[in-house]
Amino acid sequence: MIQIAPSILTADFLQLGKEIEMLNSSEADMIHLDIMDGNFVPNLTFGFPVIKQIKSIAKKDLDVHLMISNPDNFIEDYQKVGADRLTVHYETCPHLHKTIQNIKSLGMKAAVSLNPHTTVNNLHEIIGELDMVLIMTVNPGFGGQKFIENSYEKIRKLKKMISDRALKTKIQIDGGVNLENIRPLADAGVDVFVVGNTVFAADNPKEMIAKLRNS
Ligand code: DX5
Ligand code: ZN
Repeated sequence: MIQIAPSILTADFLQLGKEIEMLNSSEADMIHLDIMDGNFVPNLTFGFPVIKQIKSIAKKDLDVHLMISNPDNFIEDYQKVGADRLTVHYETCPHLHKTIQNIKSLGMKAAVSLNPHTTVNNLHEIIGELDMVLIMTVNPGFGGQKFIENSYEKIRKLKKMISDRALKTKIQIDGGVNLENIRPLADAGVDVFVVGNTVFAADNPKEMIAKLRNS
């Protein structure tokens, strides 16, 4: 069964409470929060007070995707405001093994994200430590972009790396997921789909989540 992690990046922030309640009562498996710092990626989103408020009403796990430079400085802060899963970018962590140990020691699930140009081969030595790998299927920074087709090859390669070692590491993708590509991507090995625009631009987001999940 595939999992859906709606990204609130393109939600209506004037109605954020209602959007979270909609996700609570939907088939969403977790809530994906995109944290951008205007440095690692050319955009800014929201910070700790917003996450804390979301946590106070969320009935699903918070899946926090850090698109920030020097994430090591803030791991504990994200745990304190309620992150259940924390994803750091490979490109931002010179001591990735240590970062992952730190995330796990604070009781959170740990994931590593790869930008489109970063090869999955970089994960050989760390894959056994990871709960999840996030393959970016667009360049991080904005919602509503076009899916990068070359990602299929990366997904298959990663799937092979995981099954060759009989690991339980999940594969997540983020960017450009829609009703047309979700099934072939699941067949290629994706377990968890981050979906922003396809959910929040739909006439009925809750129904769209169910459709995607049952694709
Ligand atoms: C992009 C973010 C994504 C984004 C996905 O930098 O990490 O989570 O919200 O949005 P869609 O599904 O619209 O491509
Ligand atoms: Zn994301």
